[in-house]
Amino acid sequence: MLAGRRVVLGVSGGVAAYKSAYLARRLVEAGAVVRVVMTASALHFVGPQTFSAITGTPPVTDLFSGPAVSPHTELGQWADVVVIAPATAATLSRIATGLSEDALVATVLASKAPLVLAPAMHTEMWEHPATRRTMALLEADGHHVVGPGSGPLAMGDVGTGRMSEPDEILAAVDAVLGGSPMGGVRVLVTAGGTREPIDPVRYLGNRSSGKMGFAIAEEAVARGAVVTLVTTADFTGDRGVEVVAVETAQDMAEAVWARAAESDVAVMAAAVADFRPADPAGTKLRRKDGPPGLELEPTPDVLAGVAASDDRPFLIGFAAETGPSDGAIEKARSKGVDLLVANDVTEDGSGFGTDTNRVTIILPDGTVEPWPMLTKREVAARLWDRVAEMRTGGSS
Ligand code: CTP
Repeated sequence: MLAGRRVVLGVSGGVAAYKSAYLARRLVEAGAVVRVVMTASALHFVGPQTFSAITGTPPVTDLFSGPAVSPHTELGQWADVVVIAPATAATLSRIATGLSEDALVATVLASKAPLVLAPAMHTEMWEHPATRRTMALLEADGHHVVGPGSGPLAMGDVGTGRMSEPDEILAAVDAVLGGSPMGGVRVLVTAGGTREPIDPVRYLGNRSSGKMGFAIAEEAVARGAVVTLVTTADFTGDRGVEVVAVETAQDMAEAVWARAAESDVAVMAAAVADFRPADPAGTKLRRKDGPPGLELEPTPDVLAGVAASDDRPFLIGFAAETGPSDGAIEKARSKGVDLLVANDVTEDGSGFGTDTNRVTIILPDGTVEPWPMLTKREVAARLWDRVAEMRTGGSS
């Protein structure tokens, strides 16, 4: 399954470029998020607007004229897979030798993602010793080559060198991605800090940015999961995520409890208020009336509601601590979770608003696993690996 996977489609200058538009469409239909990079020669064969319309994003056509500061590194790091179709003799040769002055080859070099190449050229070019050397280098580098097939070529010629059909390339991309490790798994994630109204203008809130929950949601989508994100913070990330926007702990509880039974895994990464103003004012509180005496009342415990439900999902809680996570071990037991992610939000580079996090994984049996400082996306990836082990009965 390609659902939620991030595909960079490189198009180089051959007549088969017209088929790349259809490949882009097939990838989008399969649920992939597609970004296109075109070489200057490709622009002679197919217009960038075609790819904009199919993928929803204008293709990158050179390194310097677009809005992105560094389009090749952005795309290269973003990609789960890079596929080049058609891959001309010239483009293949530049990849093999690392000649990266165009946006497409620069993206390939800036990426650690697997590379799928669909060569397309005339038979003489395919069989030329230069191309043979190029292909030997590319295969030795571990890149995946699909085709070419035999059949009609440009100018009425017939022979080997015809680009593989888009569906065959699609299947090769899917296979390279190893299918989807979380294909069909239904995931519910909460993110952000709740906002509890004091009056129509003001609220009691907290410093949570939602970044950890977002990373968990996006990593799950990248692994093929069907993801619902219940969030108070604006999510502008992956289009493959179903977003439910909420404000208060009460809204979040209702949204989560309505969806918990149909989820396989629930990750409660939100920073939910424990108390809210008992009687929020219906109109703006006035300075001249002096400080309001705020009476607070408890909010619903979203996580506890999920833990107590029949047919509950595999449940992951978060514990934001201010200091060592000793209290989190007791929390893991009392909260009824399968796994607790604890972090000290006062530590540098950890917790609210940062892009990194140092977390400790705690299991109800008392197992404690301190993880190193990682990016939030890396924490998310490790977390899903750990959950996969536990759900399939692996080591825990
Ligand atoms: N949580 C929740 N609903 C609440 C409060 C917390 O679902 N009203 C969830 C959080 O999303 C998190 C976990 O409970 O996954 C732990 O949150 P935390 O604030 O660390 O713990 P509390 O239960 O509030 O305990 P304490 O205030 O004693 O730290």
